[in-house]
Formats: sequence, structure tokens, C-alpha cells
Amino acid sequence: KKASVFDRLMEWFFRSRRDLPWRRDRSLYSVLVSEMMLQQTQVSRVVEYYGRFFKRFPTLETLAEASLNEVYQLWGGLGYYRRARLLHEAAKSLVKDIPRGEAWEKLPGIGKYTAAAVRAFVFNEPVAVLDANVKRVLARFRGVLSSHEKRLSELMQLLVCYGVKRGYEPRDVNEAFMELGALVCSKKRECMICPLHLACCTFLGGEERYLVVEKKN
Ligand code: ADE
Repeated sequence: KKASVFDRLMEWFFRSRRDLPWRRDRSLYSVLVSEMMLQQTQVSRVVEYYGRFFKRFPTLETLAEASLNEVYQLWGGLGYYRRARLLHEAAKSLVKDIPRGEAWEKLPGIGKYTAAAVRAFVFNEPVAVLDANVKRVLARFRGVLSSHEKRLSELMQLLVCYGVKRGYEPRDVNEAFMELGALVCSKKRECMICPLHLACCTFLGGEERYLVVEKKN
């Protein structure tokens, strides 16, 4: 089987992905805590808080039984306290019943993004997880505005299904695009080391600075 651009991305991902605590533990609880923390907070800060949070609340049950004030205390410094309250609400509901499939979106405290993240990263369901990194990567790759959320989400869904057909796990396909956005296709784009550049609209579209060799001073 000939290696496609897609295979190049996955090969890059398996070689370059960061070792993060929530990538070693794909339990429901770990994914829930990390995804709630990662919304609007940098990875390096989350690593620290994730560890602290797990020491105090090692399981879904311990979190569900804690008071909201205790949860707020552990959250202190991360900001966006609403997320702490939503996580606590979700934990209380999950010790009673764990939803399946699309019912995740209806769970208290869980939004569209977190529902997709749980389905893909915990249950390895072939659903698209569209965070800010993935949106930016796909928008540049296809040359569309990153505000075209519906198009981007349909595109990502197709890519996840395509990846599954080629033998990749849904969680890995989603994380590969996230990681590409974090490490390569960030604000400071590094097209020359990007595994997708030969198929990328923005790169091929002739933004000159990527096509000329930089002068050395
Ligand atoms: N892996 C799973 N979810 C992630 C996220 N939100 N950010 C970075 N890597 C992740």
C-alpha cells in the first residue's frame, strides 16, 4: 500500500507526539478532567493542575462526593470556575449512569466538544473532535475560513472515517490533527516540516515566504 499524505501525518504523529499524562490514561475520568481543564488553558499549566487534582480526587466517585467548594479550591489558579462546576456536575451524574453514543451531549455539564472528546478518546468511536487547533489546521489545509465550523466538522468526520478505513484508531486520527496544530501548524506556521504541506491549500497557494529560501544573515 502506497503511503499517502494521510499516512505521513500519522507517521509524524507517532514519532513526535508529546507524552502527556492524559494520553497514558484513557479512562473516562482522566479524559473528562483533562478535556475540561484544557478548554482555554495551556497544556503546560494543565499538566500541573491535572496531577494535583488527581491526588486529591483519584476517582470519579471521590470527585462526585466532594463539595463544590473543595473542587473550586483544587481548581484555584486555572480560572474559568464555571468549568469546575460543570465537571463536578458531570461527575455526580456519571456515578449514577454512563450514557452511550449521542446521549453524551445531553449530560449535565458536558458540551458538544467534551461529548465528542469522550466518545473519541475514551470509547474510540469514529467521531470528529473539533478543537481550536483542529479547526485552524483544517481551515489552512483546505483554504476555508476557520469560522466555517459546519464544513470543518464535516471534513474532520470524513477524515476520521477515512483514517479508520486505512487502519488507524479514531482517537489517534483526532489527536494527530490536534498535535499538528499545537506543534507545527501553530500561529507561527512551520510549513517546511509539516507532513501535510504538499497537499495544503495555504502552503501551495503561494504565500511567498514559504516558497523562498530564507536568507541567512
Ligand atoms: N489529547 C486529547 N485531547 C487533547 C487536547 N484537548 N489537547 C491536546 N491533546 C489532547
